[in-house]
Amino acid sequence: MEILFATDLPFGRCVAVALPIDEQEIAATLHPEEQAFAQTLGAGRRGGWIGGRVALRTALQQLDVRLDAPLLATPRGAPLLPDGISGSVSHKRSIAVALVAKASGAGIGVDVEQVDPPRLSIAPRVLTERERAHLATLHEEERWRDVLTRFSIKEAIYKALDPFVQRHVAFSEVELAFSSDEMAVRFFLREWEGPFEAAIHWFTHGEVIISSARVLKK
Ligand SMILES: CC(C)(COP(=O)(O)OP(=O)(O)OC[C@H]1O[C@@H](n2cnc3c(N)ncnc32)[C@H](O)[C@@H]1OP(=O)(O)O)[C@@H](O)C(=O)NCCC(=O)NCCS
Repeated sequence: MEILFATDLPFGRCVAVALPIDEQEIAATLHPEEQAFAQTLGAGRRGGWIGGRVALRTALQQLDVRLDAPLLATPRGAPLLPDGISGSVSHKRSIAVALVAKASGAGIGVDVEQVDPPRLSIAPRVLTERERAHLATLHEEERWRDVLTRFSIKEAIYKALDPFVQRHVAFSEVELAFSSDEMAVRFFLREWEGPFEAAIHWFTHGEVIISSARVLKK
C-alpha cells in the first residue's frame, strides 16, 4: 500500500492512499466486520471503499484514536466513527482520502476529484446563476478548473453539512463567492436550516483536486 501523503489540513488530519490497492494484502489490516462488508460490494465499489477505510484507519491512528469497533457507515452513508471523532472520506480512480478531527461541534467533509478529462457540461447542474455569470467572465482555459473546484468544494460542504440537515442538498443551495484568493460560502437552504458558517480549503495534488470544509451551526 502506498501512502501518498499524511498531513494536517486546517480542519483535521488528512491521509491519502494510492489506488488501486492489492485488496488481498490490505484486507487483513481491516476489522473483520469491515472485511465482511467489503465482500458484499461489487468490484466497482470495493477498491474505493477499502482504500477509504485504510486512509481512515491510518489517519485515526495518527490522532492516537483507539480502533476497537469497525468503521462501517451511518444510515446516511457517512463513515461511522468512534465517539468524539468527526471525519469524512472520498475516493476516485487513483486515490482515496480521509479527513479526521476530534469532534468540536462542527461537521467536516473532504472531496477528491480527478482533473482530467474536462467535463464542462456539468456546469449548469453545479453552478448558481451568479456563479455562471462569474464563469462567463473567465478565459476559456480557466473555466473547467473553476467549475471543478466549485463542484469539489460543494461536495465537501455537503458531507460537512449532512449531520445537521440530514437531507439531500442541491448544488443550487450553496454558493461560493471568490474575492481575490479567498472564498466565501453562502447558504440558500430551501428548508431554512441554520444559520451555518462554513470554512473551506482546497489544493491540487498531481492529477486531483482535494477540497475540505468545516460547517458550524451559528
Ligand atoms: C454523497 C456524495 C457527496 C458523494 O460524493 P461522490 O463524489 O459521489 O463520492 P466520494 O468518493 O467523494 O464520496 C463517497 C463517500 O462519501 C461519504 N458519504 C456518503 N454519503 C454521505 C453523507 N450523507 N454524508 C457524509 N458523507 C457521506 C461516504 O463515506 C462515501 O464513501 P464510502 O461509501 O466508501 O465510505 C454525492 O454522491 C452526493 O450525493 N452529492 C449530493 C449533492 C451535492 O453534493 N450537493 C452539494 C451541495 S452542498
